Amino acid sequence: MAEENENMEETGISSRTYEAAVARSKEIEADLPVHPEKYRVLTGDRPTGRLHLGHYFGSLQNRVRIQNMGVPTMILIADYQVLTDHDAFDQISQNTKQLCIDYIAAGIKPSDKVLIYPHSYVPEANQLMLPFLTLVSNADLSRNPTVKEEIQSAGLKSVNAGMYTYPVHQACDILFCKANIVPVGKDQLPHLEMTRNIAKGFNRKFSPKNPVFPEPQALLSKTPSILGLDGHQKMSKSRGNAIMLSATEDETAKLVKKATTDSERFITYDPVNRPEVANLLTLISLCTGEEPDTIAARIGDGGGGMLKATLTEAINEKLRPLREERKRLEASPDYIRQVLLDGSKKAREIAIATLDEVRHCMNMEI
Ligand code: TRP
Repeated sequence: MAEENENMEETGISSRTYEAAVARSKEIEADLPVHPEKYRVLTGDRPTGRLHLGHYFGSLQNRVRIQNMGVPTMILIADYQVLTDHDAFDQISQNTKQLCIDYIAAGIKPSDKVLIYPHSYVPEANQLMLPFLTLVSNADLSRNPTVKEEIQSAGLKSVNAGMYTYPVHQACDILFCKANIVPVGKDQLPHLEMTRNIAKGFNRKFSPKNPVFPEPQALLSKTPSILGLDGHQKMSKSRGNAIMLSATEDETAKLVKKATTDSERFITYDPVNRPEVANLLTLISLCTGEEPDTIAARIGDGGGGMLKATLTEAINEKLRPLREERKRLEASPDYIRQVLLDGSKKAREIAIATLDEVRHCMNMEI
């Protein structure tokens, strides 16, 4: 019951729904390496800034792993979505390019099967918004727990219609390329459910004999959500508790020095009673692959100072190749632009074909 409340509080979805999503996700995870050809993955991020360690362990590594299994992978940069809760739009272009750099530096390899593009560059996918809007009710839109949470935490006085309708646009992001797998965190599950309802609704109404759209499933990350250096809240840039992938080794050392620990000198791994220390040990473990217990035992009497020195070393060691690649990519803006243009072009070919099909089903061909 406590578990259920916790889930409800965090995401507004009941633990039963959540557990069902976890179970499906596990089945897909097991089948992916066996039948990579059955799947098309689509995932995305809002271009609100550079990516940090939480993104790296929570989603980037997973995307690279799936790409390397040979699964076609679409990585979408949700630039339109930024407008729903951000007044500022002056950084969207830079952030889009920085995201693209982070992806490639982390091991995403753009190709015919792996596309990176901003969704604003795929007009035919955006056009699906119009029929899709007719398949959801106002009540569905205002019930979405993730949207409600965003409105609350942004403290918005008046809410624009883009905020309520972006989950429908997210369905366009996913369905235009008939993706059937969407690697996401828990907070995105309501959007995926809406996407499935739109797919079902479209198929039922416009193409009952021959379903056009798949019903995409979430692939939930196996890494527990990564806490920031404060050891209490999820890692995020806006909370100032994150280590960016692009940080230098010195910046990393400075940030880690400021991390919260506790007053007990002897280092032990005890997530319940010593969450801050446990989180730093988990971060080391994610970097080195060693168990947190083993790391704690080795540090022991070395205390907080040694814990932090170990963490700094582990992060800098882990990210060194990525950061070097990052520098090379930052020095090649033309290449990054070309990756985004190529991705957009290929995404658009897919979107044009889908829109043709959709027009045909809706009796709108001339
Ligand atoms: N809503 C997602 C986020 O805030 C970003 C996103 C946009 C997305 N379109 C998507 C994620 C399609 C997965 C699939 O992070």
